[in-house]
Amino acid sequence: MLVTAKEMLDKAKAGHYAVGHFNINNLEWTKSILAVAQELNSPVILGVSEGAGKYMTGYKTVAAMVKAMIEEMGITVPVALHLDHGSYEGCKKCIEAGFSSIMFDGSHLPIEENIEKTKELVKLAHENGMSIEAEVGSIGGEEDGIIGAGEFADPEECKKIADLGVDFLAAGIGNIHGKYPANWPGLNFDVLAKVQEKTGTLPLVLHGGTGIPADMIKKAITLGVSKINVNTECQLAFADATRKYIEAGKDLEGKGFDPRKLLAPGAEAIKDTVREKIELFGSANKA
Ligand code: 13P
Repeated sequence: MLVTAKEMLDKAKAGHYAVGHFNINNLEWTKSILAVAQELNSPVILGVSEGAGKYMTGYKTVAAMVKAMIEEMGITVPVALHLDHGSYEGCKKCIEAGFSSIMFDGSHLPIEENIEKTKELVKLAHENGMSIEAEVGSIGGEEDGIIGAGEFADPEECKKIADLGVDFLAAGIGNIHGKYPANWPGLNFDVLAKVQEKTGTLPLVLHGGTGIPADMIKKAITLGVSKINVNTECQLAFADATRKYIEAGKDLEGKGFDPRKLLAPGAEAIKDTVREKIELFGSANKA
């Protein structure tokens, strides 16, 4: 069932585990993620970047597809449909399109402007029965054209944004979108602990989930992270499995060129990645 992300993340924070946010790009991605969430009896968040929303022809298409898939696949675990790194305009469009959750990313704005816009969108989201994520301290790297410097969040600024009534908060702690460079110093747990101290029971969000070692993920969860975003890792798994299929000449055997066959190894590879993450995050059997 399609629900907001608030209740599942409040439960995760209290239960010391995290819910996976997996970005979707198309029908195969969505189907794989939903199937594994159901198989593991886990709540799940489907993240949609503005670029992916455009690719799928718009947020209305995405919302209609996800709602119909939940019904047709008989998905009974809680599913949130969430805008990832939304602009002010993007948030408004997703409210209209019937998403159940939005993220307003005002991290690149001066803090006063971030506060003002977040405040307005908190009101709108809640009036429409949706949950809302905000961001302080930009996430490093690039995702779908959104480029962040990778700063550490200021715990005082986090408190100001938390006090606006957001349902969960992304705070930069040295995390980066995409692959981590070999010389990456790791997550900054001092900053995370300070942010948690200032924001209390508010669920915290860890972006850039691809490639973070398991021990760091577990430590971050103990320090209040309740939502972990994964995108690149599913893309790499899909590309790798698809490449192997083609390189083995499988598309040239019989009807191996049939798109349902051609895309199957990639879709299975996404499932394996999502399964592994859900087990690591501890959300299996928490639906
Ligand atoms: P990765 O692509 O590094 O997994 O990050 C995903 C993310 O944070 C989406 O917002």
